[in-house]
Amino acid sequence: MGIAREVFGDALPVAERYAAFLADAGVERGLIGPREADRLWDRHLINCAVVAEAIPDGAEVVDVGSGAGLPGVVLAIVRPDLKVTLLEPLLRRTTFLNECVDLLGLSNVEVRRGRAEEAAKDLSVDVVTARAVAPLDRLAGWALPLLRPGGELLALKGERAAAELAEAGPVLERFGVRTTELLQVGRGMVDPPTTLVRVVAGQDAGAVGRQQRAPRRAKGSRKRSS
Ligand SMILES: C[S@@+](CC[C@H](N)C(=O)[O-])C[C@H]1O[C@@H](n2cnc3c(N)ncnc32)[C@H](O)[C@@H]1O
Repeated sequence: MGIAREVFGDALPVAERYAAFLADAGVERGLIGPREADRLWDRHLINCAVVAEAIPDGAEVVDVGSGAGLPGVVLAIVRPDLKVTLLEPLLRRTTFLNECVDLLGLSNVEVRRGRAEEAAKDLSVDVVTARAVAPLDRLAGWALPLLRPGGELLALKGERAAAELAEAGPVLERFGVRTTELLQVGRGMVDPPTTLVRVVAGQDAGAVGRQQRAPRRAKGSRKRSS
């Protein structure tokens, strides 16, 4: 528990309550695998908490595909300065997330039910996080339109991080991203350290996203004259 105390500081009791809720209701409702209960701290809570190292002060964050709240709930616990939106399409999961917010008394979290590709019309934030949601090329297409120019996608990835970044090249180019980077956070706190792919949005990610979502006119159909 020494590392957990170091990572969560004064927020450790809140993190402990979240871990207990995951191990109990999370497993019972199938949001966390039963085998995960024994390794919640290193594989889930600490692994996610160290992502905070890469997030600027006071940032607005959207956690896409939050599931049982990873990493979004953990980030909200460890960084009360952040404003976190947990974006999740499945009702069973948003119900669980709302219960977490109430149980933990998190005043910096909003739970929103929906798919990332439909949320760009009214979200424009500093940071999008995502863990285990989709391969980077698809994830980037959903996440970049949610970012303000210069905002960052932080995707928690495993051993294939570099390969996924390479495969996402054409999509990232289409969205006009500024920079991409692989980084590791949590060295000495979690083994292996957490690998992040950081993608910094360019000026027009929102516009590219809107263009992509615009319905294509069927072949042979005509513009209606008014
Ligand atoms: C494998 S779970 C990962 C959950 C959590 N991030 C974690 O690491 O434990 C993937 C989650 O992404 C959500 N998801 C799938 N497609 C999505 C989309 N288009 N927009 C937002 N969330 C999505 C699913 O409902 C599911 O909760």
